[in-house]
Amino acid sequence: MEIIYTLNKLTEKLSQLRRKGLIGFVPTMGALHQGHISLVQRAASENDTVVVSIFVNPTQFNDKKDLERYPRNLEADIKLLSDQGCHVVFAPRVDEVYPEPDTRIFDFGHMDKVMEGKFRPGHFNGVAQVVSRLFDMVKPDRAYFGLKDFQQLAIIQNMVQQLQLPVEIVPCPIIREPNGLAMSSRNELLSCEERENAAEIFNMLSHAGEWSNSKSVHEVEKSIASGINRNPYLETEYVEIVDADTLEMVTDWQQPGRKVVCVAVWCGKVRLIDNYLIG
Ligand code: PAJ
Repeated sequence: MEIIYTLNKLTEKLSQLRRKGLIGFVPTMGALHQGHISLVQRAASENDTVVVSIFVNPTQFNDKKDLERYPRNLEADIKLLSDQGCHVVFAPRVDEVYPEPDTRIFDFGHMDKVMEGKFRPGHFNGVAQVVSRLFDMVKPDRAYFGLKDFQQLAIIQNMVQQLQLPVEIVPCPIIREPNGLAMSSRNELLSCEERENAAEIFNMLSHAGEWSNSKSVHEVEKSIASGINRNPYLETEYVEIVDADTLEMVTDWQQPGRKVVCVAVWCGKVRLIDNYLIG
């Protein structure tokens, strides 16, 4: 496994590796956990070369404090990645990715105005900026994204279509702690007690399917929110049931298509997101 910090070195290395076959790419912001590793393993099983990027992208943080607080530990990340089938770790500095400020504004219609987009204005524009730049640098055949960030995945699929990028996006399942809490780099910022109580988020989400048989869409959203809020450690920011492909609001269970419940929940000073596919 080689650690590369510059675009020149990356291009040189990948020009050799590209001749060996397919390149699978896993973009991350580091503070790696088993959720990330599951993406790396999947990429390793489907490609000849695996590239993992570790880059805390400033343009997707609408809150400066959140950017400062974001956990960083390159040494531990490198340790965790060894023996997982990763060939190249790309860990660029900010000016390597953004030699000049990126002023591009993407149009995702309503997709980046709801849920995360509503509460984190500009977030998805920053995600699209960095992911499109990283794709341009790595030029992967396939790129792996977790369903944990459901809205991000939908937006990246939309971006790839809009820009007609020659990359296949591979969605990967959410990896959870034994207590059900979705793994996240932000979990590192939780106390032991908070971590235990945050399991209530998935506990409530997992009732959605059963509740959908007897309650309206709105009632299910309300039951999940009040169930989570009953826990004194937790405060929901939103609970929304949307169409899994279009992210349009769902008001009636009879509407066609897969549906997903998405939530954002504050646990102390840490904002957690999770989701659950219904049916
Ligand atoms: P980050 O939060 O580090 O996540 C990197 C990838 O790991 C994303 O595709 C995310 O959905 C996936 N992931 C995180 N937790 C997971 C879990 N518990 N199970 C499965 N997959 C999980 O998402 C980002 O970074 C950034 O926005 C990025 C796409 C790298 C752009 O900066």
